[in-house]
Amino acid sequence: MNPTLDEHVRNDPRILALYLEARRRYNETARAHHNFTHVMRDLHRALLIAEDEDSVNYSILIPSVLLHDIGFCTPDSTKEGHDLAGAHLAEEMLPPLAYEDQEVSAIAHCIRAHKGHAELPQTLEAEILYDADVLEKAGLVFLLFGGKIIGEFEETMEVFLEREIHHRTTELARGLYTRKGKELDGGRLEKVLSLFSLIRTEVTQERPDYRVSEQNLWTKGVPSL
Ligand SMILES: [Fe+2]
Ligand SMILES: [Fe+2]
Repeated sequence: MNPTLDEHVRNDPRILALYLEARRRYNETARAHHNFTHVMRDLHRALLIAEDEDSVNYSILIPSVLLHDIGFCTPDSTKEGHDLAGAHLAEEMLPPLAYEDQEVSAIAHCIRAHKGHAELPQTLEAEILYDADVLEKAGLVFLLFGGKIIGEFEETMEVFLEREIHHRTTELARGLYTRKGKELDGGRLEKVLSLFSLIRTEVTQERPDYRVSEQNLWTKGVPSL
């Protein structure tokens, strides 16, 4: 059966208030990929993974997943990274919703560790969030999401491919933390890495026509009006 939030909200009504506030902020920012739909997919995966683990603190896990990309809803994400910016924003959002200091720290850690860049997961909840978010990239469908990310970040295909190949390589070397996460991956992360590598070879070595810009079409500079 699909995991749902109902029981968790009955046990901890703060989750509903946070859910509504997080949804409002993601929808207001309306990013092409890092939006509330992405958060819902991560949340579904995180709950599936959590069912397979003992002693998960859902009052930490669910808020962490809901807020893990909230950094993209602040202008600070470009300066310090969305993981750090998101942890800072969570530290502001959570106390008014009756979260205790210790809970805020635990949730902020999960958010900072969800990329495995600013810090590595030190708790079960952080490990589950990390796996749930990495699994977003572990499917052929991520090749299509890639186009949305290129548009969202207004970046070139080359920049996207370099970054994603680097990240997939690091994630594969690190490995997923949970048993269920590994099962859900089923080798897809590795497949995505090899396909991105093939695309990079095609674009950079075999088909330079995909990299043509206006400058390539003029010898003495691009004409202006
Ligand atoms: Fe993220
Ligand atoms: Fe994410």
